[in-house]
Amino acid sequence: MRRKIVAGNWKMNMRFSEADDLLTLILDDIENKGIPEHVDVVVCPPALYLELATDMALGKPLLVGAQNVGAYESGAYTGEISAGMLESVEVDYCIIGHSERRQYFYESNADLAKKTDILLKHGIIPIFCCGELLDDREDDMHMEVVSTQLEEGLFHLEESDFSKVLIAYEPVWAIGTGKTATPEQAQEMHAFIRALVAKKYSKQIADECLILYGGSCNAGNAKELFSQEDVDGGLIGGASLKVEDFATIIRSA
Ligand code: 13P
Repeated sequence: MRRKIVAGNWKMNMRFSEADDLLTLILDDIENKGIPEHVDVVVCPPALYLELATDMALGKPLLVGAQNVGAYESGAYTGEISAGMLESVEVDYCIIGHSERRQYFYESNADLAKKTDILLKHGIIPIFCCGELLDDREDDMHMEVVSTQLEEGLFHLEESDFSKVLIAYEPVWAIGTGKTATPEQAQEMHAFIRALVAKKYSKQIADECLILYGGSCNAGNAKELFSQEDVDGGLIGGASLKVEDFATIIRSA
């Protein structure tokens, strides 16, 4: 059985003391109630709080991810944070290609291919986001859009590198809208993605590949979404900022 991952994407929320409080509450919850053996829990706070998070999570069953990374090794890239910097504060994962980065910061699949490479070089697991706009779905182009995102952003990897990557399917129309994909819609796309991976690499790699769902996933709908055959957990936005909701989602996996 594949493991399940529940990852919280905090996005651009919370001041330092609030981040500290939320991490404390999540760690207390995990320590007091435990987490299912087959589940890994990840928090992705803003970059400024990553070191706090990795310090607090040290030796605990909580992994830490960044929300973005610069595409270059180092140098004159004002404002960027490199994969080496993330590695130096012991970050485990990094979200890349989130639709908000694609939409507001014009990140292309070619940029994401570079980011994937540099993360892997520094031993950080990319959480590669893909997903279609509402128009794409209404035009029945959703499969094609996701297929192109994977083809151009991820499928250049050798099998040994690809097997380290997580994929997150996040339909853009479901993000922050309260309009979740139905379990059937999620399952259909996840199965499609897994079939693409099998075609590009192998059935074994596809069977082992973890594909998370994101987009208005919450304490009320997580169990049904996560029970779909090809849904291996979730990338949670708004609901990851409330410890009770996040804890319920963890235990729905
Ligand atoms: P919401 O859960 O707030 O819809 O956000 C999902 C998301 O974008 C996670 O990366």
